[in-house]
Amino acid sequence: MRLTIIILFAFIFLFSCNNESLKDKGSLGPSVLGKEAAIVSPHPISTAIGLEILRQGGNAVEASIAVQYAMAVVYPRAGNIGGGGFAVISNNGNNRALDYREKAPLASTRDMYLDRNGDVIKGLSTEGGLAVGVPGTVDGMFQLLEQYGSALSMKELIAPSIELARKGFAISKSEADRLNKFKEKFVKNNPFDFPFVKLNEWKAGDTLKQEKLAVTLEKIADNGKDGFYSGDVANHIKSASSRSGGILTLDDLKSYASAWREPTIARFGECEIISMPPSSSGGIVLSQILTMLEELGYSKFNSPNQIEYIHTLVELEKRAYADRAEYMGDSDFYPVPISELLDTTYLSRKLENFSMEQATVADSIYNDANFQLKESYETTHTSCLDKNGMAVSITTTLNSNYGSKVYVQDAGFFLNNEMDDFSTKPGVPNQFGLVGGEANAIQASKRMLSSMTPTIVVKDNRPFLILGSPGGSTIITSVLQVFLNVELFNMSLEDAVNAKRFHHQWLPDRIIVEEERFDSIVINDLNAKGHHCNEVKSIGKVKAILYENGKIYAVGDPRNLDDTAGAY
Ligand code: DON
Repeated sequence: MRLTIIILFAFIFLFSCNNESLKDKGSLGPSVLGKEAAIVSPHPISTAIGLEILRQGGNAVEASIAVQYAMAVVYPRAGNIGGGGFAVISNNGNNRALDYREKAPLASTRDMYLDRNGDVIKGLSTEGGLAVGVPGTVDGMFQLLEQYGSALSMKELIAPSIELARKGFAISKSEADRLNKFKEKFVKNNPFDFPFVKLNEWKAGDTLKQEKLAVTLEKIADNGKDGFYSGDVANHIKSASSRSGGILTLDDLKSYASAWREPTIARFGECEIISMPPSSSGGIVLSQILTMLEELGYSKFNSPNQIEYIHTLVELEKRAYADRAEYMGDSDFYPVPISELLDTTYLSRKLENFSMEQATVADSIYNDANFQLKESYETTHTSCLDKNGMAVSITTTLNSNYGSKVYVQDAGFFLNNEMDDFSTKPGVPNQFGLVGGEANAIQASKRMLSSMTPTIVVKDNRPFLILGSPGGSTIITSVLQVFLNVELFNMSLEDAVNAKRFHHQWLPDRIIVEEERFDSIVINDLNAKGHHCNEVKSIGKVKAILYENGKIYAVGDPRNLDDTAGAY
């Protein structure tokens, strides 16, 4: 009965409301206000499910788990059980981070993407079976529930998603557009009938049913982690990998385990910024930039449009992303010098060649100012705050849209293409233009370095801002800018998320700016300082929750029309 109500609620929401009327109704919309609890995710149905769990007394972890499974059904381009991710939790002063990132299969080798001449074979790490890392999401969800579950069982948390997969749901315009765009790749990688390919074009409102996924979710609900990592589902994953040129084995699946990590904590003004340590670079890079900004002093900045502010942030981003390329990788395999990288003396030294007048030229190992992102990318982020002050920030992905495009025919889901996040060859950029070396070289069972930055800002001993974003390499700087818009420039959360963004990642040596949003005077002034600006369509899609003066503001990003916030 309760499940039917949840599904009904989600359907009514999807069919009958436009965003404005939702805003008026208060509890669900692009940006909403609440008093007790809130959740934001990239899809209206997953947010509706999470909000209902919160209303029923589920805590922030439980609501977030239900949302992860719902996204695997309604947001198949990035929501997943075939991928991995990161969770940061702040529970009344107790801060923890869970790493359920994919791992390289046991048969992986350092040069697996190189030809005889030692050149990278194009496409091998991004599409097809060899691009797939061992999925971590299902294990991650069980770890989270084991540590934080209170009221609800995994069965109850997955149940709404099983019903959605079986009965189907109406797809949004953006999903229809993506499905049409990727049809050719779906067919190429999957020579059989499956629910994502149909004769005609997809349109908004078409129903997508996923019976095989419903059965897989039932197996997970009934058998726990083993329902995915052994038995039928594991066999189906292995078959999908073998038929598409992959190397996943049953041992890979059986041995997968998430890892609890000590989160990174940076101090900025009155705030503590809690974020994700390796195997993500997010927390370290974010902390480095904020620490260097404190060192330089920020009282001179009064607007995010100020040239000096943009120049300064870009210069700090360059320095931190250079460290990312040199020193960061999976700390279980490579001795990432985390405390040294966060050391204030080390960071002060990095500022010795900082000039407010002139851009520092990035060291040119690789320097292609014309590098452009080729595809639009998707990852999901969920922010959640419950009535007892527990905050959860989760970012999870398949990497590219629909991951490797390899679909597990008999179990109903896409497999990730996360292997591309490794450095396939020193100095050769991945799909996000990121370079790396030894620290992020491929090794069996190692995790590929991520930029995902699920973050919780604590102020006055309670969660103040919960945020995260998709966007590959731009995730970190999107999170950074929204935080600074709120904390430094006192912007409302809605304005802070909407505000135009820019990004520098050391190499390629150029600033990307959101198209048509920056004044030409600003661009000219930046160029005059020696920067090179390239326009891109948009940067990041931040989902954030702010707690202030007893009010909870929850905001999705207008850059994704499906982003939905819920609060009560
Ligand atoms: O872990 C990472 O940094 C990437 N695999 C994230 C991919 C991503 O954000 C794609 N799109 N928005």
